[in-house]
Amino acid sequence: MILFKLTRDIKNYLDAERKKNCSIGFVPTMGALHDGHFSLIKQCKKKTDIVVSSIFINPVQFNNPEDFKKYPSTLEKDILLLEENRCDIVFIPSVEEIYPDETSKHKHFELGYLEEVLEGKFRPGHFQGVCIVVEKLLNIVDPDILFLGQKDYQQCLVIKKLIRLMNKKIKVIISPIVREKNGLAMSSRNLRLSETEKEKAAQLYKTLQYVKKQLEHKNFIELKNNAVKKLEQGGFKVDYLELTDKDLKTTAAHHPSNDLILLIAAYLNGVRLIDNILIKNKY
Ligand code: PAJ
Repeated sequence: MILFKLTRDIKNYLDAERKKNCSIGFVPTMGALHDGHFSLIKQCKKKTDIVVSSIFINPVQFNNPEDFKKYPSTLEKDILLLEENRCDIVFIPSVEEIYPDETSKHKHFELGYLEEVLEGKFRPGHFQGVCIVVEKLLNIVDPDILFLGQKDYQQCLVIKKLIRLMNKKIKVIISPIVREKNGLAMSSRNLRLSETEKEKAAQLYKTLQYVKKQLEHKNFIELKNNAVKKLEQGGFKVDYLELTDKDLKTTAAHHPSNDLILLIAAYLNGVRLIDNILIKNKY
């Protein structure tokens, strides 16, 4: 594995590989890597000649400064594990490398309703920050395929929109959510939870599964109100529990002809957790 810190060095290297007709796959991350991230690396290895990953805790996408300060970092371990998982190239730029001046931190992307609902509504500015960094990373790596996780379902839609806005021809492959044995979706932020809290946090997935099952014969609004009440009694602070179509358009009705997605975001002891499950149309 080769580690690059400078934009010009990784660009030169990848330009040379591209000339040899090598396909490039890219897995961007913010580090504190876990099996969710490595599932993307494995998928990338299967589909492309060169696996590029990046580790960059992007200050611009944190709408909450406390969350940024507390975001876990396990850089040395990450590098070892990337190598073990047969990543070819890792890009670990400094903040100055990505944001050499104040103006480089600002740009507006027309994301439309995608940044007004769910994560967009509860984390104002977050998706603009994601786009600012991902645009830069995509211009540096210029991959053939980008690998993202369904865990951040809304982010997948936002980044697909960004790619359209950039007029790039980059294929996006979305991988399923990797979970702990108890069902908790793996997340770097889980490092901030104690073992007991991790057990409790699995309640979010259990709630999604329960609501999904009950939807076959019950009204969503009623299910949602009961589920939120129960979670809040159990110590969670719920931002949302929503049932939408695949474009994240909210739908209270369980329309049998559509694939739906059930999404949740909640705090447990100040740690913000998100999860979702797909509900396939059975007809
Ligand atoms: P990060 O949270 O590190 O996630 C990097 C990638 O790993 C994302 O595509 C995310 O959806 C995926 N991922 C996280 N947990 C997963 C899980 N349990 N199963 C499968 N995939 C999972 O998302 C970001 O970083 C940043 O916003 C980034 C895109 C790098 C821009 O800064």
